[in-house]
Amino acid sequence: MKKNKKNINPIWGSNFNKQSNPLLEKINSSIDFDKRLALQDIKVSEVHSLMLQKKRIISSSEYKLILKGLKKIKALILNNKFEFNKKYEDIHMNIEMELHNLIGEAAEKLHTARSRNDQVVTDFKLWIIQATKEICSKITDLQKTIVKKSSLHIKTIMPGFTHLQSAQIVSLAHHLMAYYEMLKRDKGRFLDSINRMNECPLGSAALAGTSFNIDRGFTSKKLGFKKPTSNSMDSVSDRDYALEFLSNIAICGSHLSRFGEDITIWASDQFKFVNLSDDFSTGSSIMPQKKNPDSAELIRGKMGRFSGNFFSLLTTIKGLPLTYSKDLQEDKEPVFDSYDNLVLALEVSNGIIKGIKINKKEMLKACNKNNLMATDLADWLVINYNLPFRKAYKMIAGIISIANKKNCQINDLTTIELNIAGNDSGKKIKKFLKIDNSINYKQSSGSTSPKEVKKNIQIAKRELY
Ligand code: ARG
Repeated sequence: MKKNKKNINPIWGSNFNKQSNPLLEKINSSIDFDKRLALQDIKVSEVHSLMLQKKRIISSSEYKLILKGLKKIKALILNNKFEFNKKYEDIHMNIEMELHNLIGEAAEKLHTARSRNDQVVTDFKLWIIQATKEICSKITDLQKTIVKKSSLHIKTIMPGFTHLQSAQIVSLAHHLMAYYEMLKRDKGRFLDSINRMNECPLGSAALAGTSFNIDRGFTSKKLGFKKPTSNSMDSVSDRDYALEFLSNIAICGSHLSRFGEDITIWASDQFKFVNLSDDFSTGSSIMPQKKNPDSAELIRGKMGRFSGNFFSLLTTIKGLPLTYSKDLQEDKEPVFDSYDNLVLALEVSNGIIKGIKINKKEMLKACNKNNLMATDLADWLVINYNLPFRKAYKMIAGIISIANKKNCQINDLTTIELNIAGNDSGKKIKKFLKIDNSINYKQSSGSTSPKEVKKNIQIAKRELY
């Protein structure tokens, strides 16, 4: 790998008469971001060279030298002593050049029977599989916190909303456990995607495979994949696994953004349902009285980049001819960005729930407004007086209108005013309209009844621990 006179690229420069334009270096180089694949790249090279030796494509002394060099490079990287160089484009060339510096000519054999095209996909798949597992563990952490908090609030009641209008009474635990379910599906999607990406592209070479008698089953197994991919052309063009990762992040991020929104609303002066702990709140630079829920707002706001990153890669891939095109190098930044920000959003959500103060009093106050038990009462009338639902509905609409005129709640009406289902019904209705009855009378599975919520919390605990 002698440098030629004009200092043209030492790998592919032999047919070139001019040095690269600095602008080419700027647009072409990916080392600033793909250095995050360094450890995967080294692992892939270790396994590839072992296979080459096993198949007698390189000698065992060459293999030993390569392995020694790669070990040194790994140590340099882990100690932040590796000098990444833009001139060598990407992580693959940076490592190969350094290997050459360290061990000389044997390094030139490492790239036998492979191309950067299959190498980069193998590295990237390994990185994404690892990142997916990391995300799943962060989701589990958050789920644990949700379950812990929920256990304390099975009987803490608050209004549940539809159209952001107070609708019916629910327990705080029931509301929080809704997020447990969303996160459970998210985790399912992430884990499921691993099954699909779990095929090893290494050995597909540039696009057509290789004339060397390599053992793809061996490298696949050593790298922890289920099996080698089946079609070399698909292998080097496929970025489904990155797209799926980004779309799973976007869906999970959409759940977190709804959580961020709920918290932001609950923390508002109008609701006062919760107080964010000081360590997750900020002040205003001009209004000294303010405490802002920036952390929750940013969780909500991260959704912009999650969907942006997904569409960015989807758009890059659309219409690309088979097989590899350099456009595909644009796959990494969106993936890294979405990953970093999802992990952050999961951690911050966790911190918010851990430290949040629940204002039970305010929640209760809100339950005592807007006749939130109207639907419960309709159900109760149907069950106890054998009325058709529509009839019960109308009767209750009638007493709500009286209460509205008197500027009070239906449970403030007199027993006589409440005698809508016969003479002694008013007394019974008044008794039924005790606020806690709303959740206690629920019977359906998956409802907000304390019994059901408790059951689901038990199931969740079994799933988590
Ligand atoms: N840095 C490149 C990428 O991320 C590696 C593959 C380069 N392949 C090529 N044929 N130039 O896509």
